[in-house]
Amino acid sequence: MKVMVVGGGGREHTIIKKIKENKNVSEIFALPGNGGMKDDAVCTGIGAKDIDKIVEFAVDNKIDFAVVAPDDPLVLGCVDALEEKGIKCFGPRANAAIIEGSKVFSKNLMKKYNIPTAQYEVFTDKESALKYIESCPIPTVIKADGLALGKGVVIAMTRDEAKDAVISMMEDKIFGDSGSNVVIEEFLEGPEVSVLAFTDGKTLCPMVSSMDHKRALDGDKGLNTGGMGTIAPNPCYTEDVAKVCMETIFLPTMEAMNKEGRTFKGCLYFGLMITKNGPKVIEYNCRFGDPETQVVLPLLEGDLLEIMQAVADERLSEVEVKFSDKSACCVVMASNGYPGKYETGFEIKIDEKIDAQVFVAGAKLVDNKVVTGGGRVLGVVAVADTLENAVAKAYDNVKYVTFDNAFYRKDIGQRALNIIKEK
Ligand code: AMP
Ligand code: GLY
Repeated sequence: MKVMVVGGGGREHTIIKKIKENKNVSEIFALPGNGGMKDDAVCTGIGAKDIDKIVEFAVDNKIDFAVVAPDDPLVLGCVDALEEKGIKCFGPRANAAIIEGSKVFSKNLMKKYNIPTAQYEVFTDKESALKYIESCPIPTVIKADGLALGKGVVIAMTRDEAKDAVISMMEDKIFGDSGSNVVIEEFLEGPEVSVLAFTDGKTLCPMVSSMDHKRALDGDKGLNTGGMGTIAPNPCYTEDVAKVCMETIFLPTMEAMNKEGRTFKGCLYFGLMITKNGPKVIEYNCRFGDPETQVVLPLLEGDLLEIMQAVADERLSEVEVKFSDKSACCVVMASNGYPGKYETGFEIKIDEKIDAQVFVAGAKLVDNKVVTGGGRVLGVVAVADTLENAVAKAYDNVKYVTFDNAFYRKDIGQRALNIIKEK
Protein backbone atom coordinates (compact mmCIF):
# COMPACT_ATOMS: atom_id res chain seq x y z
CA MET A 1 0.00 0.00 0.00
CA LYS A 2 1.29 3.46 -0.91
CA VAL A 3 0.67 6.22 1.60
CA MET A 4 1.46 9.92 1.43
CA VAL A 5 1.56 12.46 4.22
CA VAL A 6 1.19 16.15 3.40
CA GLY A 7 3.34 18.33 5.67
CA GLY A 8 6.93 18.48 6.76
CA GLY A 9 7.32 18.99 10.51
CA GLY A 10 7.71 17.00 13.72
CA ARG A 11 4.00 16.17 13.74
CA GLU A 12 4.26 14.64 10.28
CA HIS A 13 7.41 12.71 11.22
CA THR A 14 5.53 11.23 14.19
CA ILE A 15 2.54 10.29 12.01
CA ILE A 16 4.85 8.71 9.40
CA LYS A 17 6.70 6.59 11.96
CA LYS A 18 3.43 5.36 13.43
CA ILE A 19 1.90 4.59 10.01
CA LYS A 20 5.03 2.62 9.10
CA GLU A 21 4.18 0.11 11.84
CA ASN A 22 1.40 -1.15 9.56
CA LYS A 23 2.70 -4.17 7.65
CA ASN A 24 0.66 -3.39 4.53
CA VAL A 25 2.52 -0.13 3.91
CA SER A 26 5.04 -0.59 1.11
CA GLU A 27 6.00 3.02 0.46
CA ILE A 28 5.47 6.26 2.27
CA PHE A 29 5.96 9.74 0.84
CA ALA A 30 6.18 13.11 2.59
CA LEU A 31 5.11 16.34 0.85
CA PRO A 32 7.43 18.12 1.37
CA GLY A 33 8.91 16.23 4.36
CA ASN A 34 12.31 17.33 5.68
CA GLY A 35 15.88 16.06 5.60
CA GLY A 36 15.57 14.50 9.05
CA MET A 37 12.91 12.06 7.84
CA LYS A 38 15.01 10.50 5.12
CA ASP A 39 15.11 7.06 6.79
CA ASP A 40 11.34 6.96 7.23
CA ALA A 41 9.83 8.44 4.08
CA VAL A 42 10.63 9.56 0.57
CA CYS A 43 10.67 13.35 0.85
CA THR A 44 9.32 14.92 -2.31
CA GLY A 45 9.90 18.60 -1.72
CA ILE A 46 6.38 19.39 -2.95
CA GLY A 47 5.06 22.27 -0.84
CA ALA A 48 2.16 21.55 1.52
CA LYS A 49 0.15 24.46 0.06
CA ASP A 50 0.68 23.50 -3.59
CA ILE A 51 -2.63 21.70 -4.00
CA ASP A 52 -2.31 21.13 -7.78
CA LYS A 53 1.11 19.51 -7.44
CA ILE A 54 -0.02 17.42 -4.46
CA VAL A 55 -2.95 16.03 -6.47
CA GLU A 56 -0.75 15.42 -9.51
CA PHE A 57 1.78 13.55 -7.36
CA ALA A 58 -0.94 11.41 -5.78
CA VAL A 59 -2.41 10.48 -9.15
CA ASP A 60 0.94 9.85 -10.88
CA ASN A 61 2.16 7.67 -8.03
CA LYS A 62 -1.12 5.78 -7.56
CA ILE A 63 -1.34 6.71 -3.89
CA ASP A 64 -3.78 4.50 -1.97
CA PHE A 65 -4.21 6.71 1.07
CA ALA A 66 -3.37 10.32 1.88
CA VAL A 67 -3.04 12.04 5.25
CA VAL A 68 -3.30 15.83 5.10
CA ALA A 69 -1.80 17.08 8.36
CA PRO A 70 -1.32 20.90 8.35
CA ASP A 71 -4.05 23.55 8.60
CA ASP A 72 -3.26 25.46 5.39
CA PRO A 73 -3.84 22.66 2.85
CA LEU A 74 -6.94 21.52 4.75
CA VAL A 75 -8.44 25.01 4.69
CA LEU A 76 -7.45 25.35 1.02
CA GLY A 77 -9.41 22.21 0.11
CA CYS A 78 -6.62 19.66 -0.37
CA VAL A 79 -8.84 16.79 0.79
CA ASP A 80 -11.66 17.87 -1.55
CA ALA A 81 -9.23 18.00 -4.48
CA LEU A 82 -7.72 14.57 -3.71
CA GLU A 83 -11.14 12.97 -3.19
CA GLU A 84 -12.28 14.32 -6.55
CA LYS A 85 -9.57 12.14 -8.09
CA GLY A 86 -10.77 9.15 -6.08
CA ILE A 87 -7.98 9.22 -3.50
CA LYS A 88 -8.98 8.27 0.03
CA CYS A 89 -7.92 10.80 2.64
CA PHE A 90 -7.65 11.37 6.33
CA GLY A 91 -8.56 14.98 7.10
CA PRO A 92 -11.58 17.27 6.90
CA ARG A 93 -12.87 18.84 3.72
CA ALA A 94 -12.59 22.62 3.40
CA ASN A 95 -16.19 23.20 4.50
CA ALA A 96 -15.35 21.53 7.84
CA ALA A 97 -11.75 22.80 8.16
CA ILE A 98 -13.33 26.26 8.52
CA ILE A 99 -13.73 25.36 12.20
CA GLU A 100 -10.06 26.38 12.46
CA GLY A 101 -9.90 28.60 9.36
CA SER A 102 -12.34 31.17 10.70
CA LYS A 103 -12.61 32.17 14.36
CA VAL A 104 -15.81 34.07 13.53
CA PHE A 105 -17.28 30.80 12.21
CA SER A 106 -16.20 28.75 15.23
CA LYS A 107 -17.37 31.33 17.79
CA ASN A 108 -20.76 31.66 16.08
CA LEU A 109 -21.04 27.85 15.95
CA MET A 110 -20.42 27.57 19.69
CA LYS A 111 -22.93 30.32 20.46
CA LYS A 112 -25.61 28.75 18.24
CA TYR A 113 -25.19 25.29 19.78
CA ASN A 114 -24.53 26.38 23.39
CA ILE A 115 -21.00 25.01 23.52
CA PRO A 116 -19.14 26.66 26.44
CA THR A 117 -16.60 29.28 25.32
CA ALA A 118 -15.54 32.84 26.19
CA GLN A 119 -18.11 35.63 25.61
CA TYR A 120 -17.23 37.55 22.46
CA GLU A 121 -18.08 40.18 19.88
CA VAL A 122 -17.21 40.12 16.17
CA PHE A 123 -16.00 43.30 14.45
CA THR A 124 -15.80 43.91 10.72
CA ASP A 125 -14.60 47.51 10.98
CA LYS A 126 -11.84 49.13 13.01
CA GLU A 127 -13.90 52.04 14.37
CA SER A 128 -16.47 49.87 16.12
CA ALA A 129 -13.74 47.61 17.51
CA LEU A 130 -11.89 50.62 18.96
CA LYS A 131 -15.12 52.02 20.41
CA TYR A 132 -15.90 48.68 22.07
CA ILE A 133 -12.45 48.62 23.66
CA GLU A 134 -13.22 51.95 25.44
CA SER A 135 -15.53 50.15 27.85
CA CYS A 136 -14.95 46.38 27.63
CA PRO A 137 -13.60 44.41 30.61
CA ILE A 138 -9.78 44.32 30.79
CA PRO A 139 -7.72 42.13 30.25
CA THR A 140 -9.30 41.28 26.94
CA VAL A 141 -8.35 38.99 24.06
CA ILE A 142 -8.11 40.07 20.40
CA LYS A 143 -8.14 37.37 17.74
CA ALA A 144 -7.66 37.68 13.98
CA ASP A 145 -10.42 35.79 12.19
CA GLY A 146 -8.26 33.69 9.84
CA LEU A 147 -5.11 31.57 10.01
CA ALA A 148 -2.11 33.53 11.28
CA LEU A 149 0.60 30.93 11.93
CA GLY A 150 -0.58 30.64 15.52
CA LYS A 151 0.25 34.31 16.14
CA GLY A 152 -3.17 35.86 15.64
CA VAL A 153 -4.07 36.05 19.34
CA VAL A 154 -3.19 39.01 21.59
CA ILE A 155 -3.91 38.98 25.31
CA ALA A 156 -4.22 42.71 26.05
CA MET A 157 -3.57 43.71 29.67
CA THR A 158 -4.49 47.37 29.01
CA ARG A 159 -6.89 49.27 26.73
CA ASP A 160 -3.92 50.71 24.84
CA GLU A 161 -2.53 47.24 24.11
CA ALA A 162 -5.95 46.16 22.90
CA LYS A 163 -6.21 49.19 20.60
CA ASP A 164 -2.71 48.59 19.22
CA ALA A 165 -3.66 44.98 18.46
CA VAL A 166 -6.80 46.04 16.60
CA ILE A 167 -4.89 48.67 14.60
CA SER A 168 -2.11 46.25 13.65
CA MET A 169 -4.60 43.58 12.55
CA MET A 170 -7.29 45.72 10.89
CA GLU A 171 -5.35 48.73 9.61
CA ASP A 172 -1.70 47.60 9.22
CA LYS A 173 -2.89 44.14 8.13
CA ILE A 174 0.02 42.32 9.77
CA PHE A 175 -1.82 39.06 9.12
CA GLY A 176 -3.13 40.10 5.69
CA ASP A 177 -6.79 39.31 5.11
CA SER A 178 -6.82 37.04 8.18
CA GLY A 179 -7.20 40.24 10.24
CA SER A 180 -9.97 41.87 8.17
CA ASN A 181 -12.41 40.71 10.83
CA VAL A 182 -11.53 40.33 14.50
CA VAL A 183 -13.07 38.62 17.49
CA ILE A 184 -12.73 40.39 20.83
CA GLU A 185 -13.40 38.03 23.68
CA GLU A 186 -13.57 37.61 27.41
CA PHE A 187 -10.29 36.76 29.15
CA LEU A 188 -10.56 33.34 30.75
CA GLU A 189 -8.38 31.89 33.48
CA GLY A 190 -7.45 28.35 34.36
CA PRO A 191 -5.17 25.53 33.29
CA GLU A 192 -5.10 24.67 29.58
CA VAL A 193 -5.55 21.17 28.17
CA SER A 194 -5.26 19.94 24.59
CA VAL A 195 -7.46 17.05 23.53
CA LEU A 196 -7.22 15.57 20.04
CA ALA A 197 -10.08 13.35 18.89
CA PHE A 198 -10.65 11.03 15.96
CA THR A 199 -14.08 11.53 14.45
CA ASP A 200 -15.90 10.38 11.33
CA GLY A 201 -18.97 12.50 12.04
CA LYS A 202 -20.81 9.58 13.66
CA THR A 203 -18.41 8.49 16.40
CA LEU A 204 -15.87 10.54 18.33
CA CYS A 205 -12.90 8.96 20.14
CA PRO A 206 -10.84 11.35 22.26
CA MET A 207 -7.13 10.59 22.46
CA VAL A 208 -5.02 10.90 25.59
CA SER A 209 -4.92 14.53 26.80
CA SER A 210 -1.78 16.65 26.67
CA MET A 211 -0.20 19.93 27.78
CA ASP A 212 1.70 22.25 25.46
CA HIS A 213 4.43 24.69 26.58
CA LYS A 214 4.08 27.61 24.18
CA ARG A 215 6.51 30.18 25.57
CA ALA A 216 10.14 30.14 24.47
CA LEU A 217 11.78 30.30 27.90
CA ASP A 218 11.69 28.50 31.24
CA GLY A 219 8.92 29.51 33.64
CA ASP A 220 6.61 30.25 30.70
CA LYS A 221 8.54 33.42 29.94
CA GLY A 222 9.57 34.79 26.55
CA LEU A 223 7.72 34.96 23.29
CA ASN A 224 4.99 32.62 22.07
CA THR A 225 6.30 29.83 19.86
CA GLY A 226 4.84 26.93 17.93
CA GLY A 227 5.42 24.84 21.09
CA MET A 228 8.62 24.09 23.03
CA GLY A 229 7.51 20.79 24.51
CA THR A 230 4.58 18.69 25.60
CA ILE A 231 3.58 16.07 28.12
CA ALA A 232 0.77 13.53 28.16
CA PRO A 233 -1.50 12.83 29.88
CA ASN A 234 -2.40 16.25 31.30
CA PRO A 235 -3.05 15.94 35.07
CA CYS A 236 -5.72 18.70 34.96
CA TYR A 237 -7.83 16.52 32.70
CA THR A 238 -9.44 14.31 35.34
CA GLU A 239 -12.06 11.68 34.59
CA ASP A 240 -14.77 14.08 35.76
CA VAL A 241 -13.52 16.85 33.47
CA ALA A 242 -13.29 14.37 30.59
CA LYS A 243 -16.92 13.36 31.10
CA VAL A 244 -18.12 16.98 31.13
CA CYS A 245 -16.06 17.71 27.99
CA MET A 246 -17.52 14.76 26.15
CA GLU A 247 -21.10 15.77 27.03
CA THR A 248 -20.92 19.54 26.71
CA ILE A 249 -18.17 20.09 24.11
CA PHE A 250 -16.96 17.12 22.03
CA LEU A 251 -20.20 15.42 20.99
CA PRO A 252 -22.12 18.72 20.65
CA THR A 253 -19.38 20.03 18.34
CA MET A 254 -19.51 16.91 16.14
CA GLU A 255 -23.29 17.14 15.99
CA ALA A 256 -23.27 20.89 15.36
CA MET A 257 -21.00 20.41 12.35
CA ASN A 258 -23.34 17.70 11.02
CA LYS A 259 -26.35 19.99 11.44
CA GLU A 260 -24.55 22.74 9.56
CA GLY A 261 -23.94 20.32 6.67
CA ARG A 262 -20.20 20.40 7.41
CA THR A 263 -19.50 16.89 8.71
CA PHE A 264 -16.01 16.83 10.20
CA LYS A 265 -13.92 13.75 9.43
CA GLY A 266 -10.35 13.59 10.68
CA CYS A 267 -8.63 14.78 13.84
CA LEU A 268 -10.45 17.52 15.70
CA TYR A 269 -8.30 19.40 18.20
CA PHE A 270 -9.95 20.94 21.25
CA GLY A 271 -7.91 23.65 22.98
CA LEU A 272 -9.61 23.83 26.36
CA MET A 273 -9.38 25.96 29.47
CA ILE A 274 -10.58 24.43 32.72
CA THR A 275 -12.16 27.51 34.32
CA LYS A 276 -13.85 27.68 37.70
CA ASN A 277 -17.13 27.54 35.79
CA GLY A 278 -16.14 24.36 33.97
CA PRO A 279 -14.23 23.52 30.79
CA LYS A 280 -14.49 26.00 27.92
CA VAL A 281 -13.22 25.97 24.35
CA ILE A 282 -10.32 28.36 23.68
CA GLU A 283 -9.85 27.20 20.11
CA TYR A 284 -10.58 24.42 17.67
CA ASN A 285 -7.99 23.13 15.23
CA CYS A 286 -8.92 20.98 12.26
CA ARG A 287 -5.84 18.75 12.60
CA PHE A 288 -3.35 17.06 14.90
CA GLY A 289 -1.51 19.52 17.17
CA ASP A 290 2.22 20.08 16.96
CA PRO A 291 4.00 19.15 19.27
CA GLU A 292 1.03 17.43 20.97
CA THR A 293 1.11 14.63 18.38
CA GLN A 294 4.68 13.81 19.40
CA VAL A 295 3.48 12.70 22.87
CA VAL A 296 0.00 11.44 21.98
CA LEU A 297 0.76 8.99 19.15
CA PRO A 298 3.58 7.14 20.97
CA LEU A 299 0.93 6.26 23.58
CA LEU A 300 -1.51 4.92 20.98
CA GLU A 301 -1.81 1.15 21.23
CA GLY A 302 -2.92 -0.22 17.91
CA ASP A 303 -2.71 0.69 14.30
CA LEU A 304 -2.90 4.38 13.34
CA LEU A 305 -3.40 3.71 9.64
CA GLU A 306 -6.30 1.36 10.36
CA ILE A 307 -7.96 4.02 12.51
CA MET A 308 -7.41 6.66 9.82
CA GLN A 309 -8.88 4.41 7.15
CA ALA A 310 -11.88 3.72 9.39
CA VAL A 311 -12.41 7.47 9.78
CA ALA A 312 -12.28 7.94 6.02
CA ASP A 313 -14.81 5.11 5.52
CA GLU A 314 -17.07 6.33 8.34
CA ARG A 315 -16.73 3.14 10.35
CA LEU A 316 -14.75 4.46 13.31
CA SER A 317 -17.15 2.67 15.68
CA GLU A 318 -15.82 -0.66 14.38
CA VAL A 319 -12.18 -0.13 15.39
CA GLU A 320 -10.60 0.02 18.80
CA VAL A 321 -8.91 3.28 19.78
CA LYS A 322 -6.89 2.56 22.89
CA PHE A 323 -4.11 4.39 24.67
CA SER A 324 -1.54 2.99 27.07
CA ASP A 325 -1.63 4.27 30.64
CA LYS A 326 2.00 5.33 30.45
CA SER A 327 3.18 8.94 30.18
CA ALA A 328 5.19 10.76 27.53
CA CYS A 329 7.33 13.88 27.41
CA CYS A 330 8.62 15.76 24.36
CA VAL A 331 11.45 18.28 24.71
CA VAL A 332 11.78 20.46 21.63
CA MET A 333 15.33 21.41 20.66
CA ALA A 334 15.33 24.71 18.76
CA SER A 335 17.81 27.02 17.05
CA ASN A 336 19.13 29.80 19.28
CA GLY A 337 17.12 32.96 18.58
CA TYR A 338 13.85 31.21 17.73
CA PRO A 339 11.06 32.44 17.49
CA GLY A 340 13.04 35.46 16.26
CA LYS A 341 16.03 35.31 13.90
CA TYR A 342 18.26 32.25 13.95
CA GLU A 343 20.99 30.59 11.88
CA THR A 344 20.65 27.22 10.20
CA GLY A 345 22.94 24.72 8.49
CA PHE A 346 24.53 23.09 11.57
CA GLU A 347 24.99 19.33 11.46
CA ILE A 348 22.68 17.35 13.72
CA LYS A 349 24.38 14.40 15.40
CA ILE A 350 22.51 11.68 17.24
CA ASP A 351 24.58 9.33 19.43
CA GLU A 352 23.59 5.70 19.03
CA LYS A 353 23.31 5.42 22.83
CA ILE A 354 20.04 7.35 22.63
CA ASP A 355 17.08 5.60 24.25
CA ALA A 356 14.27 7.91 23.09
CA GLN A 357 12.49 8.73 19.85
CA VAL A 358 13.55 11.73 17.80
CA PHE A 359 10.95 13.43 15.59
CA VAL A 360 12.54 15.95 13.26
CA ALA A 361 10.78 19.23 12.46
CA GLY A 362 13.29 21.51 10.76
CA ALA A 363 16.22 19.89 8.97
CA LYS A 364 17.78 19.74 5.52
CA LEU A 365 20.01 17.23 3.79
CA VAL A 366 23.25 18.86 2.62
CA ASP A 367 26.00 16.63 1.16
CA ASN A 368 24.19 13.68 2.69
CA LYS A 369 24.44 15.23 6.15
CA VAL A 370 21.37 16.22 8.16
CA VAL A 371 21.70 19.87 9.15
CA THR A 372 19.42 22.27 10.98
CA GLY A 373 16.87 23.95 8.74
CA GLY A 374 14.32 25.63 10.96
CA GLY A 375 13.51 27.31 14.27
CA ARG A 376 12.16 24.22 15.92
CA VAL A 377 14.62 21.52 14.90
CA LEU A 378 13.41 18.33 16.56
CA GLY A 379 11.66 16.78 19.53
CA VAL A 380 13.18 14.20 21.86
CA VAL A 381 10.35 11.99 23.12
CA ALA A 382 10.43 9.52 25.99
CA VAL A 383 7.70 7.20 27.27
CA ALA A 384 7.73 5.79 30.81
CA ASP A 385 5.45 4.39 33.51
CA THR A 386 5.07 7.74 35.26
CA LEU A 387 5.24 11.34 34.09
CA GLU A 388 8.19 11.95 36.41
CA ASN A 389 10.14 9.15 34.73
CA ALA A 390 9.13 10.23 31.24
CA VAL A 391 10.36 13.77 31.89
CA ALA A 392 13.62 12.50 33.43
CA LYS A 393 14.17 10.10 30.54
CA ALA A 394 13.53 12.75 27.87
CA TYR A 395 16.09 15.08 29.50
CA ASP A 396 18.59 12.21 29.94
CA ASN A 397 18.44 11.62 26.23
CA VAL A 398 18.60 15.22 25.06
CA LYS A 399 22.35 15.05 25.68
CA TYR A 400 22.71 12.47 22.89
CA VAL A 401 21.44 14.95 20.30
CA THR A 402 23.84 17.75 19.44
CA PHE A 403 24.00 20.63 17.01
CA ASP A 404 25.54 24.09 17.23
CA ASN A 405 23.33 26.87 18.61
CA ALA A 406 20.85 24.42 20.14
CA PHE A 407 18.56 25.57 22.93
CA TYR A 408 15.69 23.94 24.75
CA ARG A 409 13.55 24.58 27.79
CA LYS A 410 14.74 22.87 30.97
CA ASP A 411 11.33 22.75 32.64
CA ILE A 412 9.02 20.85 30.29
CA GLY A 413 6.61 18.89 32.48
CA GLN A 414 7.43 20.74 35.72
CA ARG A 415 4.06 22.46 35.94
CA ALA A 416 2.31 19.13 35.45
CA LEU A 417 4.51 17.42 38.05
CA ASN A 418 3.71 20.20 40.56
CA ILE A 419 -0.01 19.71 39.93
CA ILE A 420 0.35 15.96 40.53
CA LYS A 421 2.23 16.64 43.80
CA GLU A 422 -0.47 19.03 45.04
CA LYS A 423 -3.25 16.51 44.42
P1 AMP B 1 -4.08 30.27 20.04
O1 AMP B 1 -3.08 30.97 19.17
O2 AMP B 1 -5.48 30.35 19.57
O3 AMP B 1 -3.60 28.88 20.42
O4 AMP B 1 -4.09 31.06 21.42
C1 AMP B 1 -2.88 31.23 22.05
C2 AMP B 1 -3.06 31.25 23.52
O5 AMP B 1 -3.78 32.41 23.92
C3 AMP B 1 -3.89 30.11 24.10
O6 AMP B 1 -3.16 28.94 24.24
C4 AMP B 1 -4.29 30.70 25.43
O7 AMP B 1 -3.23 30.57 26.35
C5 AMP B 1 -4.46 32.16 25.13
N1 AMP B 1 -5.88 32.51 24.98
C6 AMP B 1 -6.63 32.43 23.87
N2 AMP B 1 -7.90 32.83 24.13
C7 AMP B 1 -7.93 33.17 25.45
C8 AMP B 1 -8.96 33.67 26.32
N3 AMP B 1 -10.20 33.92 25.89
N4 AMP B 1 -8.62 33.91 27.61
C9 AMP B 1 -7.37 33.69 28.05
N5 AMP B 1 -6.36 33.23 27.27
C10 AMP B 1 -6.64 32.97 25.98
N1 GLY C 1 0.34 23.16 19.63
C1 GLY C 1 -0.72 23.94 19.18
C2 GLY C 1 -1.16 23.72 17.80
O1 GLY C 1 -0.81 22.75 17.16
O2 GLY C 1 -1.91 24.55 17.30
